[in-house]
Amino acid sequence: MQLLNGDVVLVTGGGSGLGLGVARHCRAEGAEIVILDVSTEKVRQLKEELGPEVLVMQGDVTKVDDLQACRAAILERHGKLNALIGAQGIFDGNVPLLQTPVDRMDGLFDEIFHVNVKGYLLSARIFFDLLQANNGAMVLTTSTAAYAADGGGVVYTATKGAVRSLVNQLAFEFAPDVRVNGVAPAGIANSQLRGPRSLGLDEQKQSDIPKDAFLSMFRSLSLLQDLPTPEDHGPIYAFLASRYNKIMTGQTVVADQGLLNRPVLHSRG
Ligand SMILES: NC(=O)c1ccc[n+]([C@@H]2O[C@H](COP(=O)([O-])OP(=O)(O)OC[C@H]3O[C@@H](n4cnc5c(N)ncnc54)[C@H](O)[C@@H]3O)[C@@H](O)[C@H]2O)c1
Repeated sequence: MQLLNGDVVLVTGGGSGLGLGVARHCRAEGAEIVILDVSTEKVRQLKEELGPEVLVMQGDVTKVDDLQACRAAILERHGKLNALIGAQGIFDGNVPLLQTPVDRMDGLFDEIFHVNVKGYLLSARIFFDLLQANNGAMVLTTSTAAYAADGGGVVYTATKGAVRSLVNQLAFEFAPDVRVNGVAPAGIANSQLRGPRSLGLDEQKQSDIPKDAFLSMFRSLSLLQDLPTPEDHGPIYAFLASRYNKIMTGQTVVADQGLLNRPVLHSRG
């Protein structure tokens, strides 16, 4: 059985990392995938790799016109949409509030909230009717940063808390036609997650952290002791995006390798 056989699944922010791994998994589960990403270079490479049978589009989720263009292209190519998976995001560089220059606060807030929150809201607004026509599903990406401290700096953390709440409200507003759920990953291998332009950190990527250092830190903190790949997250997203999820809406799956279930008395050494 393929979970997404015959379904059309759009992955926003699917140009690298989590979104790309999830898109590949959805394709293996029988979906026609559509990828929308802001990075011209990632889109160019993916078009080359995936060929003309996969719709890969350059576009910015914070721009209504780009989302409308994506909607029109999906209708023209596939005539329908069954699921929307939101995976875009940018990081805040982990900069503590008191080390953030006051004159950069406005820019930092706008930049990160626009991509990490408004991007999901606009997508929900623009693709709802297509999803409704098929009793479809939305799956949004939050983070363990929405549940516990130190998963990012203040602004990133606030955006991920907002996405967690968006899942609740959208599930309520879109019921019973469209199911809306979230996934909260912890650490992800091969992530290209970039820092904020407003702090001059947009050239900084999570993948710049030496792999061994990141891996050993993550192993020492998480119960399952491995840093999952983007593809490892695929089955959770694919299930939530599929018609086989008839039960869950308004929930966020904490996909964290047991990170938040930390031992109280015993150090893991
Ligand atoms: N990396 C981690 O450890 C981690 C942990 C928890 C949650 N997350 C979340 O997972 C999601 C995916 O992150 P990732 O780690 O795979 O990073 P990534 O940078 O590899 O993937 C994010 C993608 O979003 C795209 N994007 C950014 N702004 C966009 C915009 N305005 N419009 C369209 N696309 C845009 C980027 O070009 C990139 O391809 C993010 O929401 C992130 O916050 C990541």
